[in-house]
Amino acid sequence: MYRTHSNGELRDKNINTQVTLSGWVQKIRDKGFMVWVDLRDRYGITQLIFDEERTPKEVMDKASKLGREFVIQVTGTVIERESKNPNIPTGDIEILVSEVTVLNTSLTPPFTIEDKTDGGDDLRMKYRYLDIRRNPVRNKLVFRHKVTMAVRNYLSEKDFVEVETPYLIKSTPEGARDFVVPSRMNEGQFYALPQSPQTFKQLLMVGGMDKYFQIVKCFRDEDLRADRQPEFTQIDCEMTFVEQEDILNTFEGLTRHLLKEINNVEIGDFPRMTYDEAMRRYGNDKPDIRFGMEFGELNAVAQHKDFNVFNKAELVAGIAVPGGNSYSRKEIDKLIDWVKRPQVGAMGMVYVRCNDDGSYKSSVDKFYDQDDLAKWAEATGAKAGDLICVLSGEMNKTRTQLSALRMEMAERLNLRKADEFAPLWVIDFPLLEWDEETERYHAMHHPFTSPKPGQMELLKTNPGAVKANAYDLVLNGNEIGGGSIRIHDKETQSKMFDYLGFTPEEAKAQFGFLMDAFQYGAPPHGGIAFGLDRLVAILGGQETIRDFIAFPKNNAGRDVMIDAPAPIDKEQLKELNLSLTLKP
Ligand code: AMO
Repeated sequence: MYRTHSNGELRDKNINTQVTLSGWVQKIRDKGFMVWVDLRDRYGITQLIFDEERTPKEVMDKASKLGREFVIQVTGTVIERESKNPNIPTGDIEILVSEVTVLNTSLTPPFTIEDKTDGGDDLRMKYRYLDIRRNPVRNKLVFRHKVTMAVRNYLSEKDFVEVETPYLIKSTPEGARDFVVPSRMNEGQFYALPQSPQTFKQLLMVGGMDKYFQIVKCFRDEDLRADRQPEFTQIDCEMTFVEQEDILNTFEGLTRHLLKEINNVEIGDFPRMTYDEAMRRYGNDKPDIRFGMEFGELNAVAQHKDFNVFNKAELVAGIAVPGGNSYSRKEIDKLIDWVKRPQVGAMGMVYVRCNDDGSYKSSVDKFYDQDDLAKWAEATGAKAGDLICVLSGEMNKTRTQLSALRMEMAERLNLRKADEFAPLWVIDFPLLEWDEETERYHAMHHPFTSPKPGQMELLKTNPGAVKANAYDLVLNGNEIGGGSIRIHDKETQSKMFDYLGFTPEEAKAQFGFLMDAFQYGAPPHGGIAFGLDRLVAILGGQETIRDFIAFPKNNAGRDVMIDAPAPIDKEQLKELNLSLTLKP
């Protein structure tokens, strides 16, 4: 038997018992006549003591040869510690060792296996298995497990059935590129890895499964960011005979349950906001509503003077930064440089200082008097002591830029509190989105999303204005879930493909199976998918999902530990009937 107890388990009630423990050597203090070793496993740390007077000589000798991260097994007696450590649960006791076996040696680890390590990101990723030995990393994986279990239990209780869907499929468009897998048995043909199980879950509804969920890997070849990985996990769900209201209620229930179970936070009804309103008030379809700084639109109060920059702008909008009047001229100049960075892309920024005596001082005093500026303050909700920051230009760009500034200021002012949770449903998304590159409309969510009742006709006259039965769940400024009520009849679905630029042949080749299924009594249905990685990270008080994934990819999409992707050998290529010509 390797162990009688874990390393986090023994207390003073165990004193005088004989125990066997196994684990890793965390730390050694060797005074020659006395050696202390911290023994670590997933459950904690237990101090071992080897003492010249009480420990057999050969065991003493072995102790002096131990190294960091050696795997050892010890047998000994639990004794009371002379100097207790109140910081760890096992701090009252130690083990007087009578036997030690080295189960495996270890090279010196490339970074310290401590809560605060000296290892940089790349090194820790290369030796991820060592990183996982560290409490902060391991705890995040255990936390993820807890969330996943809570999700499974909740949905299962509510009659959802977890069904696995295939990974080797045909493209399901979710707006990213596919990862493809060549088929050896079907020369020149490829599977695509699912960007989501979208079509399969709809087919399960046609199959009468009624309520489906799956905690499932999805694959998207897209540019990576802190909240994006090329393979990530969804809590994918679908329900039959439901309207948008049913879906929102069901998954608001799930989210509320998780916040209570995991974070012990009770939240009432989640607010709802239309997409249009979110864009107008926050310039963003996933607003962080934990703090204010809502947009004030200033066209009406800023376009009547000779300031041409504003006069020719589609939108003039500002935010009131709380306490921002304390910024020095130099700090404001730096802020202006910040909005002009290519990542934000503003042409410049107009500002108004709101003085304590109720007067205003702006960077455009030449054009605007105190009455004008008072109107700006009213529109942005600015108070004495605030700084109004104003951007202008094309509507969508200005909104995006001002939203970036709002988030940056919130970050600087520490308004994005990790232990505060502000969920929000964003509803009534547009059905279509204009794509500059291809110069045509794309489905904003995916092509299976139904338009709002009676709006199909509008497709012909004003496609950009058509609203969809589509919704996102936003938590603390992150999109943690999205879904829609689906089209469930063949005719509407073919019209939609037609509208999105698929020829009937293309639509049949790619989605014929779905449209066929719709002819055999497809019920009304709808669903949602949560990004599990994002959900877990935010419940865990962070926004970088990488830390909550056991073996994540880096920003270039590489697994630096196993060194993937990698070339494959000629034989394998031949078997797959592939030849490889790389562009020079
Ligand atoms: P959608 O594309 O909105 O919807 O994805 C659902 C949720 O998955 C998360 N997500 C990601 N997380 C990490 N890395 C990524 N690369 C990534 N991409 C998406 C987000 C997102 O809200 N089939 C539809 C769902 C439906 O209609 O039911 C879908 O996949 O949190």
